[in-house]
Amino acid sequence: MTALTPPAVEPALLVESLTVGYDGDVVVSGISFSVQRGEVVALVGESGSGKSTTAHAILGLLPPDARVAARAVRVDGDELSPDDDERMRAFRGVRLAYVPQDPGTSLDPVRRVRDQVAEVLRVHGIGTRADRRDRVDDALRAAGIDDVEGIGRRFPHELSGGLQQRVLIAQALVGDPGVLIADEPTSALDVTVQKAVLDALAAATRERGVAVLLITHDLAMAAERADRVLVLRDGSIVEDGEATRVLTRPEHAYTRELVAATPAAIPVVASRQARAPRRHRGVGGRERRAPLEVFPRSRRPRRDGGR
Ligand SMILES: Nc1ncnc2c1ncn2[C@@H]1O[C@H](COP(=O)(O)OP(=O)(O)OP(=O)(O)O)[C@@H](O)[C@H]1O
Ligand SMILES: [Mg+2]
Repeated sequence: MTALTPPAVEPALLVESLTVGYDGDVVVSGISFSVQRGEVVALVGESGSGKSTTAHAILGLLPPDARVAARAVRVDGDELSPDDDERMRAFRGVRLAYVPQDPGTSLDPVRRVRDQVAEVLRVHGIGTRADRRDRVDDALRAAGIDDVEGIGRRFPHELSGGLQQRVLIAQALVGDPGVLIADEPTSALDVTVQKAVLDALAAATRERGVAVLLITHDLAMAAERADRVLVLRDGSIVEDGEATRVLTRPEHAYTRELVAATPAAIPVVASRQARAPRRHRGVGGRERRAPLEVFPRSRRPRRDGGR
């Protein structure tokens, strides 16, 4: 190594050759990607393409009948072991957090908001009661909830969908994770609320330098919110590139189809290009992308309706 070679930066999240199958069906096919600190990477694909399966595999939340294999899944250089519940519990919430796809079923209906958000800290034995209270307040505010006293006392069913989603974001932020995986964090919300929630998520993660994997079926959202886009089709990543490039000059035929079907994404990209250059990497982040590995066609997942 010469003095001019930049030091290799371990990405905040590294996934190498991740495969997930159920009973002979491969639903995620040897995918590889990384997310740098401070970077937002969108994982885009239509329903059933394997987005949530990818998230659950990384988080160790797949059901017991799932078969998982990976060359490596690392957070800040530390290996995750999806089969090792105890190790995964040590990571989840504090180093690797998750905003689940469905707010309606992800909050405990019989616990007040404040207690639910504090749970991660309690489980990990973080702080005194007073510290935890402060951190919960900070997380609620970071998620865009100003009335922390009033909202903190409520039960989930007393909140709008937008507020429920913000509580889930607060829950993900409270442990100060380096990596956050948000699975369709606003799909249940109307457009105005969606924007407010995504703005809160973006501000909170930017301030904390969090690496974000943003899962969405919405290419326009990816165009607006992500630095980089991964296009997932039938469990394989068919395209991986800087967001504006993928949207304006897609290389894969499938991405071109997606872009053509999402006219709303184009003005978003144009306005991004017109703005001042954005940061596309994490701090000092020399991008280190693992080679794409795609399984032979015969091992690709069976599709409903055979698109
Ligand atoms: N427990 C399971 N058993 C068998 N197959 C499953 C299981 N969970 C998911 N699958 C299959 O894996 C594939 C990918 O599902 P996944 O939920 O990851 O898709 P997705 O991209 O998140 O879709 P959506 O946009 O609808 O949320 C689908 O074909 C689904 O039927
Ligand atoms: Mg999903």
